[in-house]
Amino acid sequence: MTPDSHSQPVFDLGARLSRTPPPAAIVIFGASGDLARRKLLPALYSLALQQLLAPEMTIIGVAQRELTDEQFHEQMRQAIVTHGSQASVDDDIWEGFSRRLRYLSADFSDPTTYERIRDTLIALPHAHHQFGNRLFYLATAPKFFPIIAEGLGDAGLAEEAPNAFSRIVIEKPFGNDLESSRALNRRLGAVFQETQTFRIDHYLGKETVQNLLVLRFANAIFEPIWNRRYVDHVQITVAEDLGMENRGAYYDQSGALRDIVQNHIFQVLSLIAMEPPARFDSRSVHDEKVKVLRAIPAITAEDASDSAVRGQYRSGFIAGEPVLGYREETGVPEGSNTETFVAMRLTVENWRWAGTPFYLRTGKRLPRRTTEVAVQFKPAPHLPFAHTVAETTAPNLLILRIQPDEGASLRFSAKVPGPRVDIRDVSMDFQYGNAFLTPSAEAYERLLLDALLGDSTLFARWDEVERGWEIVDELLSLWATTAIPAANYAAGAWGPKEADALVRRDGREWRRL
Ligand code: BG6
Repeated sequence: MTPDSHSQPVFDLGARLSRTPPPAAIVIFGASGDLARRKLLPALYSLALQQLLAPEMTIIGVAQRELTDEQFHEQMRQAIVTHGSQASVDDDIWEGFSRRLRYLSADFSDPTTYERIRDTLIALPHAHHQFGNRLFYLATAPKFFPIIAEGLGDAGLAEEAPNAFSRIVIEKPFGNDLESSRALNRRLGAVFQETQTFRIDHYLGKETVQNLLVLRFANAIFEPIWNRRYVDHVQITVAEDLGMENRGAYYDQSGALRDIVQNHIFQVLSLIAMEPPARFDSRSVHDEKVKVLRAIPAITAEDASDSAVRGQYRSGFIAGEPVLGYREETGVPEGSNTETFVAMRLTVENWRWAGTPFYLRTGKRLPRRTTEVAVQFKPAPHLPFAHTVAETTAPNLLILRIQPDEGASLRFSAKVPGPRVDIRDVSMDFQYGNAFLTPSAEAYERLLLDALLGDSTLFARWDEVERGWEIVDELLSLWATTAIPAANYAAGAWGPKEADALVRRDGREWRRL
């Protein structure tokens, strides 16, 4: 097949994926923890399997637990079998992979830890340490983030040798509010430059989230109608059927607004609403995203109850099984008022979007796990079909399904076969699984690879994180000053009735999912 003469390379997503990063030492703090076992090691193994890791790559796990290298290998092999995308571990690949996997038992608060890490890095056989490239991955409890960064700085490990890199990858949460995130950023920034800092938002590693950019900016048909003149409103839903899963103590300090809205939903919103970047590089993309967040007006005390609803689940049923209410979950204090559901109405006050509402909702213990963006267009201005049942048709709707059942569909009106002009809604559907034979890479594979390649496009830049906290902080402080408890909803329902009222006030409805 010859390439279409009109086709031109727009993005280098594929090209970047095929690049192998230079050899480096990857140091994972919190290596015996959940994230390392469930996501990081399986992702690194999968990269090795795809031959995307240089053979000299060394991975050093650091955690408090006392483990020998052999015990660590065994645990990681088990983790890869349990959580990886491959059904089994390939013995040959594992042999090479595990030879480069080390373990260091250490106390993160002890300054000598960082000297030991430095000595270990220096002592790596030359072939394993060439170029002095280092990637420090902080998969620990957040309280250790600044301690580890400063320990690395004091041991001289943040300095970059000529032609070598030293980078730090930070998991969420990046602070717990505006003030603590600024304090954390100041401490990190005193050691690592912004260009060395990679703030993870795993939503950006999802293929379908990246596809939002490709759909918008690699197709000519969407952009002309992607604005207030044609779009009636946008709904972003991040629904989970899971409850606390033993994370009650953490979650109670967080709540849905901090856990999902401040990061994942704002990232998706900014990709949906941003102006086309001139280039698909980190700076251009971040510059456009942050402009969107800055165009969201502050929520004031007057409009707080019209703009946001918080809810908390009580006991109920998920898939026919009875489940506990939030306050009965392990680790959750008895009278907790933490929200497990948020619905919001935001606007983006710029020329493209002024007056177009963006409705956001997220919650735990909703009927099912689904994440999507629905762009609802305005109705046709005039229907010239007299004596038809055209009134029953709905306006065009573009649904971008992020997970599960990844894909997109467009709803439009069609004529029902027959002698009359009856009109019905039909939908044109694209499903990732059917269209492409290769399964999507795990978000962490893509993000680890990009961090090793030094590409921060799919990471959160500080100004985005800060603006996200500004918006969320305003709402949190308004909530803190009202005595009104979070509205409750039965587990297995689509949030409290107040969330329906939030959209109905504008004459709209949440999509039924
Ligand atoms: C995490 C939140 O960031 O994202 C969790 O802390 C949430 O509470 C998870 O369950 C959802 O991620 P995903 O990829 O399953 O949609």
